Parts: sequence; C-alpha cells; structure tokens
Amino acid sequence: MRAVRSHAGRTSVNNMDIRLQKLIAGSGLASRRKAETLIAAGRVTVNGKLVTELGTKVDPERDHVKVDGKHLSHAQPFVYLMLNKPKHVMSTLDDPGGRPTVKDFIRGVSVRVFPVGRLDFESEGLMLLTNNGDLAQALLHPRYHVPKTYLIKVKRVLTDEEIRQLEGGVKLEDGMTGPAQVKKIKKAEQNSWLEVTIREGRKHQVRRMLESVGHPVIRLTRVKMGPLSLGRLESGEFRFLTDREANALRESVGERVAAIERGEEPAPKPKRPVRREGWARPKKVKMA
Ligand code: URA
Repeated sequence: MRAVRSHAGRTSVNNMDIRLQKLIAGSGLASRRKAETLIAAGRVTVNGKLVTELGTKVDPERDHVKVDGKHLSHAQPFVYLMLNKPKHVMSTLDDPGGRPTVKDFIRGVSVRVFPVGRLDFESEGLMLLTNNGDLAQALLHPRYHVPKTYLIKVKRVLTDEEIRQLEGGVKLEDGMTGPAQVKKIKKAEQNSWLEVTIREGRKHQVRRMLESVGHPVIRLTRVKMGPLSLGRLESGEFRFLTDREANALRESVGERVAAIERGEEPAPKPKRPVRREGWARPKKVKMA
C-alpha cells in the first residue's frame, strides 16, 4: 500500500489505487502510451484538478477522471471489429456507383467505424474496422511494415525460381517490391495455391506481383493482418476483436511508434524469408 500522490489533495492510503495511465488505457480510450501523452499534455484532470505527473495513482471507484473535459466513463470507447469481406463488395463505406460496401455487412454497430486499408472489389477476407484513427494510421503507415498474408489461387504452378523472384522483390511499374514470404500450399494440374506475406500496401500489389512472374491471380483472400487471423469467420460475417486481439494490435504498432519516437528508427526491416521446399497443405484453411 502506498500513499496517494499528487492529485486532488488526497493523501489517504488505498490498495485499490492504480496508475492513471492504466485507468485511461483500461477504459479503451487510448493505448497506455497515448494515455501517458494525454496526461503529459495537460489534457487529464482528476477530481477537477489538472494532473500531469505520470506516476499519479487513482482510485477507479472514487476518483473522477476527465480527458479533454469528458468523464472517462462517457468517453466513447474504441471499437475494433473484423469482417470477412466477400468478393464483389467495395472495401469502403460508400460507393457512388451503388455497389455493395462493407457498411452493408456491419449492421447493428452503433459506433461509427471505418475500414483500415483496402481490399480490391474482387478480393475477399480479413478487413479491420475501427474508430481508433491513430491506430488505423499507424497500421497503414509503410514505415511500420505490418505484415499482411494472402491465400491466393493462381494460374498454373510456380517454379522455385519464380518463387525466389517474388521473395527477393520484383519490378513493378511503381518500383521494386520489398521482400515477401511465399509458402507453397497446394498444386493441381492447372492451378496452385500459395500464401504470400508482404509488408507493403500498394494498389493491387499481390495481383501485380503474380502477374509479373506470369501467374495471374484467380482468387485472393487476406487471412492475416499483423497479429490478427481470419480463422473460421464466414464470408460476410463480422465479429468484435477480443481484448487480447485488440491489445496485440495496439502493441504491434505501439512499440514501433514508441521506438521511432525515442529516435531508435528506422523500424526493423523484415528478415529474409526462410525457404521451404515442397508443397504442403496448411491446417484450417478453406480452399475453393
Ligand atoms: N493485393 C492485391 O492485389 N489486392 C488486394 O486486394 C490486396 C492485396
């Protein structure tokens, strides 16, 4: 037990006290690091008094914490959800052409969430939607190299040389691609399935990469994004992220953001992929 320090003149001892940044982060309003920034910037009051000291302890039951003048419990919490976008759906919230959009699939969510990044009209799979703008921006920033994995079906079977080319980087009209990881999944006579992981997000990138080695994409499904996996979520269904997933997502960019803020940049470059020989079928992946 420790004496409560430095806020609202309270000096009583309370073993339920927690650090102010932990309380703010626990409300879902901001990550722990962002909460620290809010406190240091003078945007947080406790029982009506401005608090800028990061070590300040508060009693979640008794103390009234406000961020930007809004009581913590009234602040809108962050919402994170994952949608399995079907094919022939726009990954935007609106489409001037009247085509179906991801908004049509997230009915019943009262908070306004927006998609993080894009998937082609023809592509399907994992889309993250959130109202956390800072996190969305960090996830999309090329500097943070958030890995995205696609299960793809292509025409014909790639040779090992073609796979090596994709892994090392191929020349597209907007420049060389960065290193990719390519895993052989399954082959048939006319087609094959691969898992491709990239850390960039150029338009139609995976389709163009495969086209450049002579294997047009027939089907493309995003199955992973950073720490998130699509798992068995049905096409057109959505679900809220678990706390563990949301925290992992925040941490996946939070640590990088923090490292860059501390001047320890650049963010680490992706390691060269480990080569795997042979064609194997992955666990728990549906293939058409
Ligand atoms: N790469 C593509 O080519 N299309 C997508 O939808 C996603 C990645």
